[in-house]
Amino acid sequence: MTKTVLVLGANGRLGRAAVLAFAAAGWQVRAQLRRAPRAALPAGVQLVQCDALDVPALTAAGQGAQVIVHALNPDYTRWATLLPPQTAAVLAVARATGATLMLPGNVYNFGHQLPAVLTEDTPFVANHPKAAQRIALEAALAEAAASGVRSIVLRAGDFLGDAGTWIDLAMAKDLARGRFTHMGPADLPHAWAWLPDLAQTFVAVAERRASLPPHAVLHVPGLTLTGAQLQRAFEAALGRPLRARRFPWPLLRLAAPFWPMGRALVEMRHLWQRPHQLDGTRLRALLGGDLPQTPLDSVVRQCLAGLPQPPGLPALA
Ligand SMILES: NC(=O)c1ccc[n+]([C@@H]2O[C@H](COP(=O)([O-])OP(=O)(O)OC[C@H]3O[C@@H](n4cnc5c(N)ncnc54)[C@H](OP(=O)(O)O)[C@@H]3O)[C@@H](O)[C@H]2O)c1
Repeated sequence: MTKTVLVLGANGRLGRAAVLAFAAAGWQVRAQLRRAPRAALPAGVQLVQCDALDVPALTAAGQGAQVIVHALNPDYTRWATLLPPQTAAVLAVARATGATLMLPGNVYNFGHQLPAVLTEDTPFVANHPKAAQRIALEAALAEAAASGVRSIVLRAGDFLGDAGTWIDLAMAKDLARGRFTHMGPADLPHAWAWLPDLAQTFVAVAERRASLPPHAVLHVPGLTLTGAQLQRAFEAALGRPLRARRFPWPLLRLAAPFWPMGRALVEMRHLWQRPHQLDGTRLRALLGGDLPQTPLDSVVRQCLAGLPQPPGLPALA
């Protein structure tokens, strides 16, 4: 039987990685986007150009799909108003097509005081707006299971491996000037997800979805790294030392009243002040062993190559 996936948000970070990974694994891919593809897509990928709220168009595009990857992400500063209708639309499409919905979860759900090790049983705490919004999103998926909508949340750390991540926006922004920027204490473990690995995990879980309950949550451990470990990995890839520098949070705080994105970022600063990692025991049990895991040196080399102005790499060995 042809395996078919509809990827919602195919121009986004996870969306694009998912299109590439499902296509490479032999799935028929339908890619929803609202603009032209930002880069070439593999041959055979069918484009579905429409808004994510266009339920009739998405339902038509999803006919025959077994899986829908929900990689949409509305404007980060307007989740309160944009997330609920988007969730309702995506659930309507999943209900109408019978496809299993797969959502990349994040660690916001655990609130400000998130514990150091996050398992699927760690309680959610809605003590900041984005925590409440993500908890509501996942609750809507869980509730929809009672009316026959199957869903899987794959919870992951901060994405690595595309533009618009903490690496290119902040940490590696000043490498050309010999500086590496730390978002918090340099020895604080932080959860990351290398997008190609995460997308391959989506494929592997999609192929085992029949063994999961109607609503499942699985944690993707990805890479747990301190800022110091990341700095050393960048130094090794560049072949030269870097000076550590602190992210200018006080400036962001000053700008926050006038700059919605700055305000939204300051609200999430706790993720750089609390050590955290995702426990992947259940995911490993499902997939039967090793998870897709690109080595850190390769991750960092690819991050460097993707920077707007890659700062001169030494020749590969
Ligand atoms: N970024 C992270 O570090 C991270 C970590 C864990 C989990 N997640 C979760 O993963 C999911 C995807 O995140 P991401 O960072 O990959 O997102 P992203 O790069 O910001 O991409 C989101 C995509 O959604 C599309 N979109 C938003 N509203 C739309 C609408 N009304 N109609 C059509 N398309 C619409 C955007 O289209 P345009 O390109 O046209 O604007 C964009 O391509 C989100 O749920 C996010 O919370 C993210």
